[in-house]
Amino acid sequence: MRKFFSLLVALVLTAMCVDAKAPLKPIKSGEKWLDNTGVHVNAHGGGVLFHKGTYYWFGENKSDHTSAALVGVMCYSSKNLTDWTQEGVALKVENDPKSDIVRGCTIERPKVIYNKKTKKFVMWFHLELKGRGYAAARAAVAVADKPEGPYKFLGSGRVNPGVVPMNMDAAAKAEMEALNPDDYKDWWTPKWYKAIEKGLFVKRDLQGGQMSRDMTLYVDDNGKAYHIYSSEDNLTLHIAELSDDYLSHNGRYVRFAPAGHNEAPAIFKRNGKYWMICSGCTGWDPNEARMFSADNIYGPWTKHPSPCVGPNAKLTFGGQSTYILPVQGKKDAFIFMADIWRPRHPSDARYIWLPIDFKADGTPVVEWRDSWTLDYFDKKK
Ligand code: DGJ
Repeated sequence: MRKFFSLLVALVLTAMCVDAKAPLKPIKSGEKWLDNTGVHVNAHGGGVLFHKGTYYWFGENKSDHTSAALVGVMCYSSKNLTDWTQEGVALKVENDPKSDIVRGCTIERPKVIYNKKTKKFVMWFHLELKGRGYAAARAAVAVADKPEGPYKFLGSGRVNPGVVPMNMDAAAKAEMEALNPDDYKDWWTPKWYKAIEKGLFVKRDLQGGQMSRDMTLYVDDNGKAYHIYSSEDNLTLHIAELSDDYLSHNGRYVRFAPAGHNEAPAIFKRNGKYWMICSGCTGWDPNEARMFSADNIYGPWTKHPSPCVGPNAKLTFGGQSTYILPVQGKKDAFIFMADIWRPRHPSDARYIWLPIDFKADGTPVVEWRDSWTLDYFDKKK
């Protein structure tokens, strides 16, 4: 028995050594990425959670002919960020026509965070009700005991009803309250933009809660979690703090880049500075990335040029930001994740994963690479 055990240990150790010496697999943005079953990874608009030595990639399951949710939110797991095991459907759409997440609704940009206090995995996503286009603009939340799920759907709604943003002082609030919607029936005029900046749509949505579409989540070093989402008809981003259990909003939120038309927010922190990379609003078509930085998550945020460099950088290499993934165990190692949408064949949408470099002053740079390996971060030092 002892002999057998030693043999087993030797075999495992040999396997580990062989594995450690195996060449790293290249990351090739824009190509098909096959999971352990040989099928292209179906986790679009996604984000990645690292938990107890494993990365979990969550994203929208897209079908071949529609962007409506026919399946739900997918989960894949990996130890090395290049070999992905399909863990199945983490959050399933429901059959009950009365359910907010009935099959045929729209589920976009799911993100999962872990709550150390409750030991629960919390998923937030952008939800549009079936048959209502993009009018509902709701945030939705689900919870699970295990990273891969199953997630239990808890509910959906607009955000922080009745609450004025923290970065609107008494004078700004009075100015917002004085706005008369009848004076701004013509959209896209300079006068209308000014009114949007002053909170025309915050006022419009105050009672029912603020709109929430493209979104991400961020857990800060102190454990506080934030929901960052395109609000006010995609004109203004909001950064809203979550409750201690991460299952609701606690009423603290700010508006960010009012009337700036930013979507697809992705955020990371390096040397105490927050960096946000977003896109403009052009539906499924790519546009030029935008970048902002701040010393405090609630701002003020400073605008920077797009971080993208290389062929097709003006169109974010044909993609749209979705998440910035900190690579574990490596200093200053962040991966910019984006989606190359294929609206005519949604399941064939592709992924862009590129390493983030930093200029001497700390400004992030995302350079196109046809192929790269994770030891890029070690070689940089
Ligand atoms: C752009 C958003 O970023 C996507 O998530 C999706 O909502 C499309 N617009 C729909 O046109």
